[in-house]
Amino acid sequence: MTAELTIDELHEKYRLDYDPYHAVPIAQHLAELAERRQTMPVSYSARGKGCWVLTRYDDIASVLRRNNRGFISFPNDPDGQNSQGSNDGMIPIEIDGDRHKQFRQLLDPYFSPQKVAEKEDTLRQWANRLIDGWIEDGRCDFVNGFALPFPGVTVLTIMGWPLEDLDLMNDWTSTLLHGKPGGSPEEQMAVRGQAHVDMRAYMLAMIERRRGEASRDDVTSGALNVEIDGKRLTDNELFDMFLLMMTAGLDTVQSVLCQSMVYLARHPEQWDKMFEAPESLEPAIEELLRWCAPAVPTRNVVQDVEVAGLHLPPGERVHFPLAVANRDPAVYPDPDEVILDRVAKPHLAFGLGTHRCVGLHLARLELKIAFTELHRRMPTFRLAPDAEPHEHLGLAWGTDNVHLEFTPGSRER
Ligand code: HEM
Repeated sequence: MTAELTIDELHEKYRLDYDPYHAVPIAQHLAELAERRQTMPVSYSARGKGCWVLTRYDDIASVLRRNNRGFISFPNDPDGQNSQGSNDGMIPIEIDGDRHKQFRQLLDPYFSPQKVAEKEDTLRQWANRLIDGWIEDGRCDFVNGFALPFPGVTVLTIMGWPLEDLDLMNDWTSTLLHGKPGGSPEEQMAVRGQAHVDMRAYMLAMIERRRGEASRDDVTSGALNVEIDGKRLTDNELFDMFLLMMTAGLDTVQSVLCQSMVYLARHPEQWDKMFEAPESLEPAIEELLRWCAPAVPTRNVVQDVEVAGLHLPPGERVHFPLAVANRDPAVYPDPDEVILDRVAKPHLAFGLGTHRCVGLHLARLELKIAFTELHRRMPTFRLAPDAEPHEHLGLAWGTDNVHLEFTPGSRER
């Protein structure tokens, strides 16, 4: 413990600034973080309002496990202000303690392995319908033709919302998360603001409509009927939760699909290896999840805690890309290699502790269906030479602009 140093002295001693939005490729950023792990595994970045940056699997896992015990998740942002700029935590990811537990009791049953398995046939049909949209062309815009709409359909299904609203929802979510490609900061703010307004109007209308209808077995009815702290949720709270469902459910799956397909295009032998035996696919998906890990959580210290031997007082913030935990060589030998049958300690792509991903069974099912149907209908593919994939960091790391080429196939519907 280093209780003898004041927090200001600790800041100074461990100072190594860090930019979560650094405009570099993911591999380069991970290489920089690997170096940081070697030279200063726990460091303090004075950028913005300041935060500690963790790089070791064990330190990150330890903080995640201690949510509600010295740490809380609000605001879940390295700059100390949640992405909506609001003092209300996003539901449920920035809510802690007993209130958070009540939200999980509401949501968990809709995301159990049994419940999500009921969606398998519908989702498989949708995966094929999307593939039908481009399979005859021998070329596809993978993001807009699959990686974004497929998780979009999935979330709409789980919410019980009309699937014909898919394009609307995808447009809004994508704009909200990534703005307008190439736009100025002012344009980005304007288009994001408009997407937020439009999505809010849509969701409030949906809430109103569903209040007037009989209850169904879906997240929307569950949220309308539940009492949290003895009270029904307000329209604002319902909107917050539904919005998070969209953003958390779309961007993450899109990222894993896109990062994986770019990797597989560059390592075509791995595409067949994933399907070598019926039991090969599951560990292969876990390995791709480990390798891709898009989420980047932050935790806030609310009572004296110890992090990697340092004593941190309330008010400090701890930030950690989960990909950096998943690439820790102390846990995963050759961490940057995708070893599809790797036998390893569980990865942290879905987080850990009280906020561990609600949608993890659903996400695994989506990835299983997506890879299986894509492999069946597109046994070989490559990156289109005229469109270079583009990667982004931020609060969910990902890849955009993925265009694939393949031997044309036939539509199935
Ligand atoms: C590959 C896909 C996915 C990945 C990698 C992923 C990752 C994560 C991670 C790391 C967290 C915890 C963040 C933290 O501790 O701050 C989380 C939370 C969450 N995820 Fe996912 N997620 C995925 C898919 C989904 C899907 C499909 C849904 C729902 C449709 C979903 C809904 C949520 C929700 C609601 C939370 C908040 C849970 C809470 O605060 O208790 N996620 N996710």
